[in-house]
Amino acid sequence: MKPFLKWAGNKYKIVERIKALLPPGQRLVEPFVGSGALFLNTDYPRYLLTDANADLITLYQFLQAEGEAFVAYCRPLFSPENNDKDRYYALRDEFNSTHDLRRKSAIFLYMNKHGYNGLCRYNMKGGFNVPFGRYKRPYFPEAEMLYFHQKSQSATFQHGDFRDVMESCVLNDVVYCDPPYVPLSQTANFTGYSSGGFSWDEQKLLAEKARELASRNIPVVISNHDTDFVREIYTTATFTEFYVQRYISCNGENRAKAAELLALFS
Ligand SMILES: C[S@@+](CC[C@H](N)C(=O)[O-])C[C@H]1O[C@@H](n2cnc3c(N)ncnc32)[C@H](O)[C@@H]1O
Repeated sequence: MKPFLKWAGNKYKIVERIKALLPPGQRLVEPFVGSGALFLNTDYPRYLLTDANADLITLYQFLQAEGEAFVAYCRPLFSPENNDKDRYYALRDEFNSTHDLRRKSAIFLYMNKHGYNGLCRYNMKGGFNVPFGRYKRPYFPEAEMLYFHQKSQSATFQHGDFRDVMESCVLNDVVYCDPPYVPLSQTANFTGYSSGGFSWDEQKLLAEKARELASRNIPVVISNHDTDFVREIYTTATFTEFYVQRYISCNGENRAKAAELLALFS
């Protein structure tokens, strides 16, 4: 089943590759769950699904708790009248000012399907700032949402940083990490930030955490671009490399086929 959200770096196309590496376990932990492509297409008894994006996690919690009622609540936002630039910006303003989390979650879904390229970006003040997307007929993902609701009954959703989630892992957990990727060009400043506000230091820390968990017999798989930097910081892992076509980015370079890898720490 496809995720109901468009999400940069979503792993739907490589789910089978990831599954081939993941050992069985009692609980799959995804500290960077995004649209949850792996969660939706695996069969672990339980899931711990977390992400630093609070809007994403709140939306999942409403859908998990309410199912069909929440789907019905979101549906009217997908009317032809709302597929309009002015309506989009009015709803975006409402999203940025409301304290009604249920309404906010529904508009988050609306903006995911009506905004430019399905992007999720915020300004310095934390306001969602993706422009209108000009789609002919944005898709209302009813079947995908209902499937997510059903599947999420075995899941716990939490908003938070990967560090805390990884530290809370226990024996019989299996961990899949899909962090914002390191940039392909090594010209970027090594002390600065890579895409998605994820720094080089955080990339290194994630690798350290993975080694720590592996030493406690908790296996970890991490996805990333296949670069020298990544191979260096993931040293001790076993690599599987492959090529993948990416579509969601508006950045020309990222549309090309890029070398990616899966690193297994076990
Ligand atoms: C490449 S996406 C994950 C895509 C996901 N596997 C899917 O199939 O859609 C990376 C995710 O990491 C989240 N993220 C960024 N920094 C984080 C942090 N420090 N801790 C936890 N999550 C973070 C982002 O919000 C984003 O959802």
